[in-house]
Amino acid sequence: MKFCEIRAAESEEEIQKALELRRMVFVHEQHMFEENDLDEYDDGAIYLNAWSRRKDLLIGTVRCYRDKEKPNVWWGGRLAVHPDYRTRGIGVYLIRAAIETVKNQQASRFLASVQLQNIELFKKLGWEPIGDIFFFHGHPHQIMEVDLNVFHVSPQSARRKQQAVEAL
Ligand SMILES: CC(C)(COP(=O)(O)OP(=O)(O)OC[C@H]1O[C@@H](n2cnc3c(N)ncnc32)[C@H](O)[C@@H]1OP(=O)(O)O)[C@@H](O)C(=O)NCCC(=O)NCCS
Repeated sequence: MKFCEIRAAESEEEIQKALELRRMVFVHEQHMFEENDLDEYDDGAIYLNAWSRRKDLLIGTVRCYRDKEKPNVWWGGRLAVHPDYRTRGIGVYLIRAAIETVKNQQASRFLASVQLQNIELFKKLGWEPIGDIFFFHGHPHQIMEVDLNVFHVSPQSARRKQQAVEAL
């Protein structure tokens, strides 16, 4: 993506930037947590950070971590895009980067607890719901899974491809 680059955090400083953005979104915007959203899954998680190329500013983040009981199963979570940079494809870019990351870790399954209002976004990307909706910190969530054997195309690039085909 032209204006944004996704990199796995390599330093404590880069992890702290991700945690700051998460605090802004999940504590102050969504009021899902009172002070911070850290939990036991942050320890050892891979943080994928989306940086604005122009401003060296963190504009999105997502974490991926291994299931504690089933090591080949990975979870994605705490997906957050800075409010000023939403609906520009960064969320999708992060989800696709997370899929590539867990594939490189030889994951056999990739799951996420998705907030109700985001289920459609994930469905568009090929994720499927598993089980019933449940409440986490007062917010309805749905566990969703993506088939790691399928090649994933973003809605934007699918649209671009369709337009290119139609122009032929
Ligand atoms: C959810 C979130 C990460 C999406 O990030 P984003 O960068 O705005 O999403 P994108 O721009 O990549 O969205 C891509 C597509 O999904 C659509 N979309 C975005 N959010 C959506 C939603 N909640 N429901 C349905 N569609 C959505 C966009 O309109 C766009 O559609 P298009 O390709 O047809 O144009 C962002 O809104 C956010 O940080 N929200 C607050 C925290 C949160 O809810 N985290 C997710 C927890 S599961």
